[in-house]
Amino acid sequence: MGFNPSHRLDGIEISIIRKINALAKPSTINLGIGQLPYRAPGPLIQAGIKALEKGVIQYTTNAGNAELRQLIAEEHPRLYERGVNPEDVIITTGVEEALSIVFAASLNPGDEVLIPEIYFSVYDPLARFYGATPRTYKLDETFSLDLEDIESKINPRTKIIVINSPANPTGKILRQDELSNLAEIILSHRDLYAVSDEVYSHLYFGEEKPQSIARYSGRVIITDGISKRSSATGLRIGWTIAPQEVTRELIKVHQYMVTCASSISQAAAIPVLRGECLESEEKYRRSLKENRDSAIQLLSEIPDMDLVSPEGAFYCFPNISRFGDSMDVSLKLLNECDVLTIPGIAFGEKGKHHIRLSYAVGKEKLCEGITRMQKVLQ
Ligand SMILES: Cc1ncc(COP(=O)(O)O)c(C=O)c1O
Repeated sequence: MGFNPSHRLDGIEISIIRKINALAKPSTINLGIGQLPYRAPGPLIQAGIKALEKGVIQYTTNAGNAELRQLIAEEHPRLYERGVNPEDVIITTGVEEALSIVFAASLNPGDEVLIPEIYFSVYDPLARFYGATPRTYKLDETFSLDLEDIESKINPRTKIIVINSPANPTGKILRQDELSNLAEIILSHRDLYAVSDEVYSHLYFGEEKPQSIARYSGRVIITDGISKRSSATGLRIGWTIAPQEVTRELIKVHQYMVTCASSISQAAAIPVLRGECLESEEKYRRSLKENRDSAIQLLSEIPDMDLVSPEGAFYCFPNISRFGDSMDVSLKLLNECDVLTIPGIAFGEKGKHHIRLSYAVGKEKLCEGITRMQKVLQ
């Protein structure tokens, strides 16, 4: 007798990111990390402490704290043409849960989900959990959407198209015309929805904040949260924003999965949405931009390592095909110079010519890490 796992788990493995991180030693320069290294903003921390002291440790409503939902709605006056209503928002346990309830509420066995060919490693297994088939759509050499390829892959079984901008692991920000053209494609197919993962939307280095596809279409489900923008991955606060007909279904899954997100974490998130943490957000962006520029410069000194400059999030995703496949190169770097990077294969088959470096670390560590890489790869 043994434990007989569900067929839902057939072929699903613990992520390569977790596996390679387990190989890090205390001495390792870890450029594999997916979170900011900064202390979270003061108002967020104070609000969390105050909530605990005041005993705010009861369930909230399933959809979440009313003030927080109101503030999230107010942050998006230009989406869905009409703006966002608090009733369109569900507070979730991180963006991971937001994605989970969206996939669970949308997918039947046999359905198809279109995801980018280089993707955040959760989208593929999550589609499989619900018996759906993830299919990848092409990105061009600068990681822009190949809209023709997307269109050619839509069929009556296609339920959702996932986009992620700014993207993990490429750092790509989708342009306005890409979003509006994709919105048009989606609207021309009955019952098709975009799932727009916007968890990095506050981490960008140009003048303008990245746009949401929900400016161009009502058939969009947004997943977002404070993990990355507020250096608060452990608070586990995310949310969905979606039209009422979708939110009505999402809340059923959310209710039976988790009841509600942590009341204390929700209270701590309120100052972020009130705009009390803007100074910290600006500081994070400035520091990340400096790190990004240093990383681009140092990587460009490695002959034959091509890099598309990242525009947002906090990752570089250079092409390392001249040095071997991604797993070999990551292991070589770990073993020969004690620098941890993530093999691009963790983000899909098309990632196998790349490695992912996170520049969300101290600048000195970052520069030392890439300088060591230069020596190993030259
Ligand atoms: C693209 C993307 N979406 C979602 C998440 C998960 O966010 P959270 O920590 O809020 O669950 C991550 C985390 O790395 C991510 O990179």
